[in-house]
Amino acid sequence: MMSNTFYVTTPIYYVNDVPHIGHAYTTIAADVIARYRRQRGERVFFLTGTDEHGQKIERTAEAAGETPIELANRVVKRFEQLSQALNITNDDFIRTTEKRHETTVQEIFKRIEESGDIYLSEYEGWYDVREEAFITGTQLEEILSLPESKRPKIEKVKEESYFFRLSKYQEPLLRYYEEHPEFVRPGYRLNEVVSFVESGLKDLSISRTTFSWGIPVPGNSKHVIYVWFDALTNYLTATGFPDDTETYQDIWPADIHLVGKDILRFHAVYWPAFLMSAGLPLPKTVFAHGWWTVEGEKMSKSTGNVVDPFQVADEFGADVFRYFLLREIPFGQDGDYSHSAIISRVNGDLANSLGNLVSRTLGMIERYCEGKVPAPDSLEKTDENIRDSALSAVSKFENAMNETAFHKALVSVWDYLAIANKYVDDQAPWVLAKEKNEERLGTVLWSIVQSIGVVTILLYPYMPESAEELWRRLGASEPLSSVNLSQARDWGFIETGSKVEKGESLFPKYEEAK
Ligand code: MSP
Repeated sequence: MMSNTFYVTTPIYYVNDVPHIGHAYTTIAADVIARYRRQRGERVFFLTGTDEHGQKIERTAEAAGETPIELANRVVKRFEQLSQALNITNDDFIRTTEKRHETTVQEIFKRIEESGDIYLSEYEGWYDVREEAFITGTQLEEILSLPESKRPKIEKVKEESYFFRLSKYQEPLLRYYEEHPEFVRPGYRLNEVVSFVESGLKDLSISRTTFSWGIPVPGNSKHVIYVWFDALTNYLTATGFPDDTETYQDIWPADIHLVGKDILRFHAVYWPAFLMSAGLPLPKTVFAHGWWTVEGEKMSKSTGNVVDPFQVADEFGADVFRYFLLREIPFGQDGDYSHSAIISRVNGDLANSLGNLVSRTLGMIERYCEGKVPAPDSLEKTDENIRDSALSAVSKFENAMNETAFHKALVSVWDYLAIANKYVDDQAPWVLAKEKNEERLGTVLWSIVQSIGVVTILLYPYMPESAEELWRRLGASEPLSSVNLSQARDWGFIETGSKVEKGESLFPKYEEAK
């Protein structure tokens, strides 16, 4: 059975983390996808949330003199507020401490056990509490080759543990990647995953006994389920699995799990193996994005260079932040965040290209046409060209969006803005006004307004507030959020007679704002 709903997820964030640019990045990307799909008339389910179990959180709570759930309840708000500050339209927010989640995790554990893929033994080896990850032999070698100051803190553990027969899934996984190359994207990340799996998979420890902050193993509450097994399952919990079959079938499998490259292994190796064992369909795509450095440096609490997304959204506005993150670097690659980079995007792309086109066009309509969109006369070649370029920009935009290439999608819009700006310069409506050439003036201004309309629709998923405001200034009566993307292909949809409003600059130059 095929699901009918487009399902997009972010990782669930460690609840004790302080939200940073990395969290903002994945969440914004997921929101753009969700809004874009809704704009195409698709039903969408967009999930984010918090990862609240495990040794790290138990220890942090202990150090703060509170219980883990007290800690989680106190700090979870920061992530809920992040969604608000960035204008995120998630349909659900999952917390792994919810009852619904415990039910799902235990059910999956039982199904995997019934497949004969779980056995009791002892884990002896190293554990990285910060990453909540068991360290394999090769990883240990890599860690030991690092200078001491760069080594992650790892601890020796020896405890009774349930194991998952991951080794059994080595061949099935490799076959799956072969048959579904779109399962891991971008493609170069698939190669990394394949070589990791080819190098040999050992059975995976999936329970712990030396602390208690987690979901008990069904039938043996001395053990809590390994936090990554618990966390990955959140994607199923939110679909209503196992009790709400109808919703589950409507939503699952996920269309896209967005993750940072550091947690790709969990999503592209362990997660599909668990699902195969439980007899459930696999997500269609796991997309791994790159990492942000800050002014050329790795972001870290000790360096004190962690970018606070609340502060950036406050200073520049959520739309500018959203635009910057997705425009600055191709999705998948690493990038560098800096104050000056964001300012040059504001002043160049937003204030100059987009802002100028809008303000001069609407200004001229106010000046020459009493603020009402004029009627076009017959179109000349040059007017047809900017219409055709708009249609081609829409196609390029959609193709890029369908392959999660945000940066390419935005480039197609800005390439078009350059064409539209050039058209204004070439046609010089101010000259036409002076010459009282009403026919040409009407046709040119009408054409530019249509161009702006197309751009506004395309930009909605990225800059929802500004696009909505621009839409209103173009004289539209219905909200942009209810306009279908296909309208961008109906050249002429901004009607003659619509009352426009130039208003204050939507994207003031940064120096002016100061
Ligand atoms: N709780 C796990 C995820 C479980 S999903 C079943 C986790 N949480 S996290 O709070 O550490 O979230 C990390 C997310 O932020 C990851 O996707 C990670 O890649 C991303 N980033 C952390 N630092 C980052 C940058 N400097 N740049 C971009 N993203 C980065 O992992």
